[in-house]
Amino acid sequence: MRVPLFAANWKMNKAVAETAEFVTQLSELLVAAPGTLGTDYEVLICPQSTHLSTLAASVGNRPIEFGAQNCGTAKSGAFTGEVSPAVLKELGCNWTLVGHSERRHIYQETDALVLSRTRAALAEGLRVVLCVGEKLEERRADQTMQVVQAQLSILKGMNASELSHIVVAYEPVWAIGTGENASPEQAQAVHHSIRKWYATELGDKAANSLRILYGGSVKPENAAQLLGEADVDGFLVGGASLDPVVFSNVIKNGLEFRAPGV
Ligand code: 13P
Repeated sequence: MRVPLFAANWKMNKAVAETAEFVTQLSELLVAAPGTLGTDYEVLICPQSTHLSTLAASVGNRPIEFGAQNCGTAKSGAFTGEVSPAVLKELGCNWTLVGHSERRHIYQETDALVLSRTRAALAEGLRVVLCVGEKLEERRADQTMQVVQAQLSILKGMNASELSHIVVAYEPVWAIGTGENASPEQAQAVHHSIRKWYATELGDKAANSLRILYGGSVKPENAAQLLGEADVDGFLVGGASLDPVVFSNVIKNGLEFRAPGV
């Protein structure tokens, strides 16, 4: 069984002072969600790294995961502006995103750099959400799977233990922050192809246990339909993760459609 994962990517939003209240409110709201948090479904919050120690203190013993939005390529050293995966671990993080489209397209991060970040994160015991997705012109040119497979290919050669620490997030660039989500059919088609690619390149076991998140204009109104697709195992949520009421409704609506244990 793949436990649904709901990941909040706050991007460069929110003051540090807003963190504690968000966690308190979200925890209270999730009491009404179907299933048990941390067992039947998981929640991950990825703020700016500046917020992580406050977030760790706010989360306390609650079964809420937190992580970074990106991570450095080495444990320590002369890498100005980067955040060490060892320090993320020290702050209590279990997760980091890598390869987000904003990193790839605004900051020109290449697959080689995404691989280097992934390796450094895994070496420190962090779990990695590897983000992949095509641009609008690539979709129009029918190159979606070609692009996604090239981004996934950094995983070739990883061992079973490393692969068990990877979650893939499919985020079509044209759906991020635009209000226009991929249709459930479009998302399912790509998620299914990702799982097929995994089976071929990395083996059936890795393919079956891989969680594939969808990201791109997820909101309470489309959560149920998207999570109802067989290969959609959760969400990576930007805008709709900033308000605890809205984010909890994404989670609740998604879970009501996909009953725990399915
Ligand atoms: P939105 O949910 O705001 O479209 O952002 C998606 C995203 O980029 C999450 O990583």
